[in-house]
Amino acid sequence: MLPHCSLLLLLCVARLFSPSSALPFEQKGFWDFAMDSMDSGGMMTMMRDEEEGSAVEEVLPPDIHMCPFGCHCRLRVVQCSDLGLTEVPKNIPPDTKFLDLQNNRITEITENDFKGLTNLYGLSLRNNLISKVHPKAFVPLKHMQKLYFSKNLLTTIPKNLPASLVEIRIHENRIKKVAAGAFAGLTNMNCIEMGANPIQNSGFEPGAFQGLKLNYLRISEAKLSGVPKDLPESLNELHLDHNQIQAVELEDLSRYKNLYRLGLGYNHIRNIENGSLAYLPRLRELHLDNNRLIRIPRGLPEMKYLQVVYLHSNNISQVGVDDFCPRGFGMKRTFYNGISLFANPVNYWEVQPATFRCVSDRLAIQFGNYKK
Ligand SMILES: *[C@@H]1O[C@H](CO)[C@@H](O)[C@H](O)[C@H]1NC(C)=O
Ligand SMILES: *[C@@H]1O[C@H](CO)[C@@H](O)[C@H](O)[C@H]1NC(C)=O
Repeated sequence: MLPHCSLLLLLCVARLFSPSSALPFEQKGFWDFAMDSMDSGGMMTMMRDEEEGSAVEEVLPPDIHMCPFGCHCRLRVVQCSDLGLTEVPKNIPPDTKFLDLQNNRITEITENDFKGLTNLYGLSLRNNLISKVHPKAFVPLKHMQKLYFSKNLLTTIPKNLPASLVEIRIHENRIKKVAAGAFAGLTNMNCIEMGANPIQNSGFEPGAFQGLKLNYLRISEAKLSGVPKDLPESLNELHLDHNQIQAVELEDLSRYKNLYRLGLGYNHIRNIENGSLAYLPRLRELHLDNNRLIRIPRGLPEMKYLQVVYLHSNNISQVGVDDFCPRGFGMKRTFYNGISLFANPVNYWEVQPATFRCVSDRLAIQFGNYKK
């Protein structure tokens, strides 16, 4: 099963027309976090267990006997957010499925903080002050699938993450380096959000992503000057927007044949080398808005499944009649349903209507006047 990230994919399809780039993951409320588990049956099982266990619970009232001071414990969810905690509390019930520690002032994760929590499925440490994680801290969490670690002060990926992990969000930390084997053994991992870290291309050691079969990776708002060449081949979604990428060179994308969505908006791209897009036969959505392109990238007509291309806010002064659509009929499997070209120095009345002969609907083209 592809949890969560595939949901993201769907959500993003629903947002195809929004010119904004994909936003970083924001956890809205705690119950969103808990509800996440519905897709894996976690919550369902929990609720059923509650019912079946009701005979016992008449004698022993649930959840009262053990719950960290100030936290709420219910249905195996332990909620300790926004309490000003400076460390992970003691007395977390061993059957806890979700532990929410977000928005506290925790500075360190020590060796025994999660001892005995073998049933934990999701852990949120988002928005704390954590700069240190004991290398064995996560070892007891043998069933943990989701780890939310965004908005902390980490400088490296925590060590010995559990093999059960499916998703890690480590956005907005201070990571400058990802060591070789940082994700070793994480064969279930599907989704990594690691944007807004001050990492450059050289910060990824060769083999940093070795062994991962990721579907989704986001390294936006970092300090990348080129497309990293060593990312997992399995990727369906790659978000590299808000970096300092200057060009896309011929071999840059050759590894990423499974990409459906590629985000390169808000970079400094002047040129996309001829032929480089031919490595992405399955691409459906391409974001190149807010760059410095002076022409439409070559190769779009050959991309059979491409439906959405964002090219707004570039320096494109000409649009040729064959820049988007193939000459022959039937060569394109899906028509475009979103092309944005506004905020470019192109006179739209000079663009021939036939340029958009493979677009599903006139409304799918966002043109607009160029304003100096
Ligand atoms: C790139 O391709 C276009 C047409 O597809 C061609 O006119 C142009 O000369 C090519 N540029 C290079 C540098 O090969
Ligand atoms: C836009 O492109 C033109 C050439 O077509 C170039 O002279 C100009 O400097 C470019 N502007 C920017 C802001 O890159």
